[in-house]
Amino acid sequence: MRIFRFQTDLRAYLSDQRNQGLSIGFVPTMGALHEGHLSLLKTALTQTEIGVVSIFVNPTQFNDTADLEKYPRTPGADIGLLEAAGCQVLYLPDATDVYDGRETATADLGGLDAILEGASRPGHFAGVAQVVGILLDIVQPDKLFMGQKDYQQIQVVNRMLAQRGDGVVLVMCPIVREENGLAMSSRNRRLSAEGRERAGQIYRTLQKAAREAVQKELPVIELESREHLDSQPDFTVDYFSFRHPQTLEPLRHPPADGRMVLVTAVLVEGVRLLDNVLVV
Ligand code: PAJ
Repeated sequence: MRIFRFQTDLRAYLSDQRNQGLSIGFVPTMGALHEGHLSLLKTALTQTEIGVVSIFVNPTQFNDTADLEKYPRTPGADIGLLEAAGCQVLYLPDATDVYDGRETATADLGGLDAILEGASRPGHFAGVAQVVGILLDIVQPDKLFMGQKDYQQIQVVNRMLAQRGDGVVLVMCPIVREENGLAMSSRNRRLSAEGRERAGQIYRTLQKAAREAVQKELPVIELESREHLDSQPDFTVDYFSFRHPQTLEPLRHPPADGRMVLVTAVLVEGVRLLDNVLVV
């Protein structure tokens, strides 16, 4: 695996690969890698010839400096995992290589950035769109691989890609889960062993709610599910909501084609956990 700290070197290397006719798949991450991240790389390696992973804890998407500081950083372990998974290229920059002070305005996110995760984390999605835009300029991949786990982030990036119009294809990869159904996340390591076990309730509740969507009113399902989760010790639900799969607008009734996404954010022992299921 080649490791690049500077975008100039990475650009030169990738341009050479591109000139040889090789296709490039890109997986942006913030490190502290787990099976969820590695599944994106594995998919990239089946669809494109060169797998590029970036590890960069992007300061502009954290609205809380304490959260940025306590974000786990495990570069040694990450490099080992990427090597073992067959990654060819790792971009591991520091902030001065990504941001040169000449950044321009980010995409118009059309309000997608103000709801759900955006409501409790102002500026978060503007920061995500900004860094993903910069990374795409550097890597210029054919395909971009991102996880359904961060469903709203997928829609934000979709919107941004449509505005860029450079033909990058976004591939949404399924959520990798722990044995008890908990969606894998670098944040899970902040939970107690018991909290981690009980957090499996989130996915079970989503699945039950999704099954009920054909026979019950959506607001009733939302309310019952919220109450169920809120009644667990150390659980606080931020939202549990049926949404339009692209605009993420709230739905009171299933749309004609039946397609919805059911999204939730639950604080377990003070740790914010996200999950979602697609309803089709
Ligand atoms: P990070 O949280 O490190 O996630 C990197 C990618 O891994 C994202 O596309 C995320 O959706 C995916 N991912 C995380 N957990 C997953 C799981 N359990 N199953 C499948 N995919 C999973 O998301 C970010 O970093 C940043 O916002 C970033 C896009 C890198 C911009 O800074």
